[in-house]
Amino acid sequence: MQIDFTGRTVLVTGSTLGIGLATAEGFARAGARTVLNGRDETRLKAAAESIRAKVPGADLVTVAADVSTAEGAATLLEAVPAVDVLVNNTGIFASTPVLEISDEEWRRFFEVNVLSGVRLARQYLPGMMARGFGRVVFVSSETAIDTPLDMVHYGVTKTALLAIASGLAKAAAGTGVTVNSVLPGPTHTEGIEEYVTALIPEAESFDAAQREFIARFRPTSLLQRLIEPSEVANLILFTSSELAPATTGAALKVEGGTLTSLVP
Ligand SMILES: NC(=O)c1ccc[n+]([C@@H]2O[C@H](COP(=O)([O-])OP(=O)(O)OC[C@H]3O[C@@H](n4cnc5c(N)ncnc54)[C@H](OP(=O)(O)O)[C@@H]3O)[C@@H](O)[C@H]2O)c1
Repeated sequence: MQIDFTGRTVLVTGSTLGIGLATAEGFARAGARTVLNGRDETRLKAAAESIRAKVPGADLVTVAADVSTAEGAATLLEAVPAVDVLVNNTGIFASTPVLEISDEEWRRFFEVNVLSGVRLARQYLPGMMARGFGRVVFVSSETAIDTPLDMVHYGVTKTALLAIASGLAKAAAGTGVTVNSVLPGPTHTEGIEEYVTALIPEAESFDAAQREFIARFRPTSLLQRLIEPSEVANLILFTSSELAPATTGAALKVEGGTLTSLVP
């Protein structure tokens, strides 16, 4: 199976770190003109350099823009008027008891995790439909299905993404454009390293901490370790490729088997 994005422009939001960076690297490796995004020029430059070190000659564009705002979305549109693939990856998480989450915090989570992708889809989908090809992927989470007690607001935003992807897929029916969501489980990113280390400070090494974390907090994991960002990226690349026109409106699990429900 050859996955080739030569001639395609791909935007991955929140791609200076973690899953977004691994996804951008995957697209660059597969020949795409890849647009990296984050809020900070220095982190963007470092991300682009890290990809170029692994993928010599990678065709990269960097756009500093805060996608949680309408201004940020407009900045992206001005810099990159059309894309073939939009990966709405940007997302934040925080551990807060549900009864202590303020209105302001609920709104912030919706702006960053939900409206960011809605705005960009509104900007780029019509062009994709007119050209007869396009892919939109929302990076959701296993918490879309299994609401975490300590991150209810996060889980709610991730559940919303499943419905948004399904609705947008219906809006794009018959046009050659697909819209899907992917549901990663706990993934080995910098943020999760900090989260796991704080939860299990007594562990002797990070490897011991992550295994303890999975055993205590994700006991249903069939993978029994954190997922590597590239393992999430691989599913995003396949779903975004020309090989996957029949996968649309779907919620695709890449959570190491932690969700025990048979669907989605
Ligand atoms: N890590 C996990 O275990 C896990 C599990 C399930 C789902 N997910 C989901 O996967 C996605 C990526 O998570 P991650 O852990 O890889 O993220 P991460 O390592 O925390 O990186 C977040 C990225 O988003 C960027 N960012 C944050 N706010 C932004 C904004 N307002 N505008 C533009 N960029 C912004 C950050 O760049 P700057 O700071 O440079 O702006 C960074 O590149 C998220 O949607 C998350 O919910 C993660």
